[in-house]
Amino acid sequence: MLYPLVQSALFRIEPERAHRLTIRALALWGGVGAPLAPALPAHPVTLAGLTFPNPIGLAAGVDKDAEAVDGFLALGFGFVEVGTLTPRPQAGNPRPRLFRLVEDQAVINRMGFNNAGLDAALLRLSVARRQGIVGINVGANKDSDDRIADYAYGVAAAAAHGDYVTINISSPNTPGLRDLQEQPMLGDLLTRCDAARHLADGTRRPLFLKIAPDCPRDLIDRIVRAAIDHHVDALIVSNTTITRPDTLQSGAAGEAGGLSGAPLRDLARAKLAEARSATGGQLPLISVGGIDSAEEAQARLDAGATLVQLYSALLFHGPGLAARIARGLG
Ligand code: FNR
Repeated sequence: MLYPLVQSALFRIEPERAHRLTIRALALWGGVGAPLAPALPAHPVTLAGLTFPNPIGLAAGVDKDAEAVDGFLALGFGFVEVGTLTPRPQAGNPRPRLFRLVEDQAVINRMGFNNAGLDAALLRLSVARRQGIVGINVGANKDSDDRIADYAYGVAAAAAHGDYVTINISSPNTPGLRDLQEQPMLGDLLTRCDAARHLADGTRRPLFLKIAPDCPRDLIDRIVRAAIDHHVDALIVSNTTITRPDTLQSGAAGEAGGLSGAPLRDLARAKLAEARSATGGQLPLISVGGIDSAEEAQARLDAGATLVQLYSALLFHGPGLAARIARGLG
């Protein structure tokens, strides 16, 4: 009800500052500990041995440094994916690097994995209440000499603290990163990460892999094969796109970076369908991209996704969206 007012105030503020304010507010709320969306219907989903209270997740990139996990879970998300976190802190790209495309209900970002580093986030997670599932999304430092070693390090560190770990090789904002989606690097990466996810007690932390929506079908086939061979537990489809549909209206449409939100929806649906066909049901899928309603979330679940995640629609539909979707699922 109140969100249109809050939104018009937030939309007058530079996007990255507005984002910081939102994270701070939710970090404070998380500290209070009261649910913001009480009495949500139970909608449990099991994946990789984890029970998710509902299938609606907060996508990576919103709470990169794990500052407001409890606040986001209090909004009704069944799970929150923090990160992308790199072994060492890094500043990311110069500002401005985050653009609202209001007319298109979209976002373009070229943040470049700005984050305070794995250690700081893991320390915060160790004291969070975490009433829901918390995944940790890891990446490589931009100036790393050995990116695969960064991922292996990140998986080992995150495995001790996250309910699952995601390897993100699909950001368009770290030059060359998406080359890791190709063989032989992909096989090497997955071998190292599969070894790194073992815990001291011999169990294996669930490992998810996040891919780009710009992968052609034959590449999806190869990624799926490698993921199954290396015991990846789920594929997240997908990250932001470097393509620009010619329907875009906003002045910022020409900014470099990854596009997300409503204009990504058709591509995200198409890539989910391709991934579903490539996996033949052997590898669970998490659908992301342009989800902004219970109908759209339900359609992705019906099309073969086990879980969904969202980010951009929060800007346009407000913090009550996760709870509205959870209430509207069939
Ligand atoms: C992202 N996304 C993202 N993904 C990821 O794996 N690691 C990250 O650090 C980020 N960072 C990030 C920042 C910003 C500003 C945006 C808008 C997005 C991608 C995100 O998790 C998601 O895959 C896409 O945004 C598509 O979903 P939506 O936004 O269309 O719901």
